[in-house]
Amino acid sequence: MNRDNDVAVASPDDADRVRIFDTTLRDGEQAPGFSMDRRAKLRMAQALEALGVDILEAGFPQASPDDFAAVAEIARTLKSTTVCGLARCQPGDIDTTGRALEKAQRSRIHVFLSTSPLHREHKLRMSRSQVLDAAVAAVERARQLCHEVEFSAEDALRTEPDFLAEVFSAAVAAGATTLNAPDTVGYTTPAEIAELFGYLRQHVRGADQVVFSSHCHDDLGMAVANSMAAIGAGARQVECTINGIGERAGNAALEEIVMALKVRKPYFGVDTRIDTRKLYPTSRLLAQLTGQPVPRNKAIVGENAFAHESGIHQHGMLKHRGTYEIMRPQDVGIGETRLVLGKHSGRAALRQRLESLGHTPDEAAMDAIFARFKTLADKKREVHDEDLEAIALGQDPEATG
Ligand code: KIV
Ligand code: ZN
Repeated sequence: MNRDNDVAVASPDDADRVRIFDTTLRDGEQAPGFSMDRRAKLRMAQALEALGVDILEAGFPQASPDDFAAVAEIARTLKSTTVCGLARCQPGDIDTTGRALEKAQRSRIHVFLSTSPLHREHKLRMSRSQVLDAAVAAVERARQLCHEVEFSAEDALRTEPDFLAEVFSAAVAAGATTLNAPDTVGYTTPAEIAELFGYLRQHVRGADQVVFSSHCHDDLGMAVANSMAAIGAGARQVECTINGIGERAGNAALEEIVMALKVRKPYFGVDTRIDTRKLYPTSRLLAQLTGQPVPRNKAIVGENAFAHESGIHQHGMLKHRGTYEIMRPQDVGIGETRLVLGKHSGRAALRQRLESLGHTPDEAAMDAIFARFKTLADKKREVHDEDLEAIALGQDPEATG
């Protein structure tokens, strides 16, 4: 493997850019109910490349022949995105992953090993020094087989910080260029993860030569908040998935992190390369390929994310959209804000919808229409345009179905 074109991973030019490492096809796909066949994975990988993710974790090649084939096909197909494969710190895994990535324009092997006392004792039955040696041997082996190596210390957030810094320092010396500190079980809090990243940036030898990465799970519902805190403390790669799919309660949601960085740019001061107008189509594609619908109230891409039903909110929106929206639906690829007409809606939104349907009732007619609308809205969750047209024309909307 020719490593001549290795990039200086933490160059000053990149200091204000956060790399998006998408693991929808690995951590996301391994969650119950979200598995995808090879064709679906390839289709999704192409959409993720078009979205602009920097690194795409395509799978775990050692897991099955099909996963190997999917990673190899994605590696052959993608042009600008770094394709990554996951491997345990075992020679067989690493060699298989190297083979799966052989045809990638740019390849990354992601080796991982648990470092926390709980995992060392009960899962690995390894001492600290055995973990350290295995991490070094894995990074050294992987770097012969790909363009760049990422090392993850599984369960990093429950690992002794001094030991974590020691393992990371050894991984850097062995050739890793990205150091990932996963909150494997979704246990941490924003303040704690920020403190850890601050500590690691001070105590890891060679810290200024590498990219620190966060990988947060959502067991306590804090995956995105924790990822944002890690970025605030210097992480320049975040690992995340479309719609937040992933093991157990999921991973940090890509669309939420990206839009938080965009909407609050003055606060965070960093950017991504994501084409945010592709967020909604990419989310829909994943839902379609996995058969798992996106919850209505999901931030950024849920059906309600840009919908307003209450009269007070609708009235505000009609005067100035900034009253109740902090981003434009078009920025995430959704056509328009939806003012949903239901029992909480008021006259202003009703009049606007009637006018858009070509009806301009005077005030007296409007009183009657509004009263009939409210009666109907009490019976139905949403009053549709055909109901309104029937009411405006003096017909019985319930007779029209
Ligand atoms: O959650 C985790 O620790 C992981 C690692 C393999 C990075 O998914
Ligand atoms: Zn994970």
